[in-house]
Amino acid sequence: MSKTALTILASLSLAFGAGAAWAGGDAAAGKAKSEACADCHGEDGKGDDETPALAGLSAADFTKAMTEYQDGTRAEAKMMVKAAKKLSAEDIANLAAYYATLKP
Ligand code: HEC
Repeated sequence: MSKTALTILASLSLAFGAGAAWAGGDAAAGKAKSEACADCHGEDGKGDDETPALAGLSAADFTKAMTEYQDGTRAEAKMMVKAAKKLSAEDIANLAAYYATLKP
């Protein structure tokens, strides 16, 4: 195989690897990041009278909500817009994976 073909293959598999990790999310990394959310949503993600529970939320619902805080669809939730704007797409995937593992 030519050197060029090898280089292309190597970068393809790199891109693929990163993509898979992203889509799946890393629950351990999400747990570390969730410290910023625990003040309001609780250590166990169970929420309280004013804050909705996140524990057991599907990754799809979680990601949808975070995207809506970031893009202004749910702009009235100012606290969440502020929290969401600090997060990268990778942070959100990791947090989604983490909260989906918690028992509701
Ligand atoms: C200052 C308090 C506060 C902090 C900090 C906070 N949240 Fe929230 N969160 C709320 C409140 C209040 C709501 C309900 C807002 C609404 O009505 O949309 C909410 C809603 C949500 C929702 C939508 C839940 C649903 O079922 O619709 C998600 C997802 C969420 N928060 C994730 C997070 C994550 C992840 C973090 C940390 C990066 C975080 N929140 C930090 C207060 C907070």
